[in-house]
Amino acid sequence: MELIGRNDPCWCGSGHKYKKCHMAFDEKLESFRRKGCIVPSHKLIKTPEQVEGIRRSAAINIAVLDYVAQHIREGISTEEIDQWVYQETIKAGAIPAPLNYEGFPKSVCTSINEQVCHGIPSPKDILKEGDIINVDVSTIYQGYFSDSSRMFCIGKVSEEKKKLVEVTKECVKLGLEQVKPWGFLGDMAQAVNDHAKANGYSIVREIGGHGCGLEFHEDPWVGYIGKRGTEMVMAPGMVFTIEPMVNMGRPDIFVDDENGWTVYTDDGLPSAQWEIQVLVTEDGHEVLSY
Ligand code: MF3
Ligand code: CO
Repeated sequence: MELIGRNDPCWCGSGHKYKKCHMAFDEKLESFRRKGCIVPSHKLIKTPEQVEGIRRSAAINIAVLDYVAQHIREGISTEEIDQWVYQETIKAGAIPAPLNYEGFPKSVCTSINEQVCHGIPSPKDILKEGDIINVDVSTIYQGYFSDSSRMFCIGKVSEEKKKLVEVTKECVKLGLEQVKPWGFLGDMAQAVNDHAKANGYSIVREIGGHGCGLEFHEDPWVGYIGKRGTEMVMAPGMVFTIEPMVNMGRPDIFVDDENGWTVYTDDGLPSAQWEIQVLVTEDGHEVLSY
């Protein structure tokens, strides 16, 4: 921990004296750390100004997904979704974060049925009745990052797939209810995992959520396998995503070896994912993007 005087300006940039600002916060974190808990570094605690920037980015992120929701239908290609996301994002003065991110070639991820995540939009992928698709939108606005994704059912979808989509959404909601200061990421993880399991589903272990705001992917890594009372302590000012990938069958996955991106279920059964971006507040949480 850095040494800082009681009357020095707080490390958070508020301009207030440390003793009136984050001193009690640091003492609390330190007590968790002494007990052997994983605690966030100061760099993961967003200032009010940064939160405001992320909120503005998130407003665009949500509007882009709303646009997709209004236009997605049977017969369109995932390439068209990519064009909508690109155009709506640029029109709002923002940048689609996926474009050229570690070589990703498009502005959005579109993952259909047994594709778990990181599907690459293509004119060859035409949505047909009965498909379920995840559209994952990530936005950079004035240097601030937002990230969320939704599922869409195309036309009449089987009861089985519809249930997978609904239960996955419930998993996120139950996980979110666990987000409060001085809880643990494992509290959230267990709530997500228990609900998936209770419905006979499994959760992808290798890919998870992440801190998000000043960068696309920040610490902590946010998994859904952890148990209550474990993983990082949640502190006010942390921003991260909850984005479980829920498989109808086995949790095992593989990555497309031709494009190096798209993740599939090993057993070929469908997978669903919803993603929200959440801020830990003084008394609970605030959903920033959804
Ligand atoms: N949006 C994804 C996430 O939720 C990340 C996609 S990386 C990309 O973390 F390059 F595929 F876009
Ligand atoms: Co994400």
